Amino acid sequence: MNLVLTCPLWLESLAKKEIELLWLPILHSQDKQITTSFSDENIAKLNLWSRVWNKVYIELVRKDKIDTFDKLFDLIKSIKWKDIILEENPIIVNATSTNSKLESLPAIQKIVKKAIVDKLSDSFLRENDKFPTIFIETVLIKDTCQILIDTSWIALHKRWYRKQSVEAPLRENLAAWLVLLSSWRFSENFYDIFCWSWTIAIEAALIAKNIAPGLHRNFAFEKFRFIKSWILEIEKEKAKWKIMNKNYSIIASDIDENALEIASKNAENAWVWDIIKFELRDFRDYNNEKLIWTMVSNPPYWVRLQDEDLDKLYKDIANIFSKNKELKWWIITNYQFWDLLKFDYKKRKLYNWWEMCYFYSKTNQHNPN
Ligand SMILES: C[S@@+](CC[C@H](N)C(=O)[O-])C[C@H]1O[C@@H](n2cnc3c(N)ncnc32)[C@H](O)[C@@H]1O
Repeated sequence: MNLVLTCPLWLESLAKKEIELLWLPILHSQDKQITTSFSDENIAKLNLWSRVWNKVYIELVRKDKIDTFDKLFDLIKSIKWKDIILEENPIIVNATSTNSKLESLPAIQKIVKKAIVDKLSDSFLRENDKFPTIFIETVLIKDTCQILIDTSWIALHKRWYRKQSVEAPLRENLAAWLVLLSSWRFSENFYDIFCWSWTIAIEAALIAKNIAPGLHRNFAFEKFRFIKSWILEIEKEKAKWKIMNKNYSIIASDIDENALEIASKNAENAWVWDIIKFELRDFRDYNNEKLIWTMVSNPPYWVRLQDEDLDKLYKDIANIFSKNKELKWWIITNYQFWDLLKFDYKKRKLYNWWEMCYFYSKTNQHNPN
């Protein structure tokens, strides 16, 4: 058995780095998936420390040339299900298929479920609150079949600190990725001048303080009978010892006071409210100030704001950047404002949820790494 981590397409290289930081090997990698070694301890560590990946799965089997339902059925039956699930566990089988002969997802789900039931008994398909539901993923890519068990439960990019939803927040793992990419040195100023729910500022604070993103949440594997889930408590204790407390200067500002209550609650939940300085202000006020060091921000764009004069807004942003040559900035938006930038910049495409965005950054910024 191995462990498989899933992440958005463009986050793989950073996800690999994060796995290596935990001293775990990269056994295999493909689009949106990285494979590392299995152990109970690794399941706990990976779920706890995931900043950019979405889920941690146990890979029960990976086999190529699964191009008929009979082969799929036999493959599923070859797994020792009795070691993994009790008859009482409800199970949910999901399926995905890419460039494979077996295409019908309902049919794949049906066969996988039937084969598991055949191996055990059919009694465990009934709903049962006392026993955890086991989520089984069947992934077919070019006729190679993987059977995966979800150890994470709610996707890991959903952090514990966001209890209430706000409109149009950035996905947490994307915000973490932007901060990591900015190579912000924690002793320097960090700005988000369009901060709304403070997602970027909170992720920056979690990274600076080295707080494990999963410290205060639960995971599916805690109820698995074949995993020593008490290891999680040990890993959580170790993680608490790794938290740093230094002086930070994280400045988050926005013109809209409506998000303040929810955003400050988020920061309180994340235990970082004391190191984020919030200012209610129009970003144009920064025209009269000298901005130095690092800015990662997500200005409004058409999907979010319809009435705003966006051309004017982005012209004013570009002016602030021209005035502050020492500022290293990273901007995520789907507004195309490269004509307004009077200096060299880099641009790459990425997705925030399902929206295609651009991530702009000034070139020749010093990179301490
Ligand atoms: C795309 S949202 C930012 C979302 C944020 N990254 C998050 O994850 O919650 C853009 C934000 O820009 C703010 N905004 C719009 N015009 C502004 C201005 N003139 N000065 C400062 N903030 C402004 C809006 O209030 C909104 O919160």
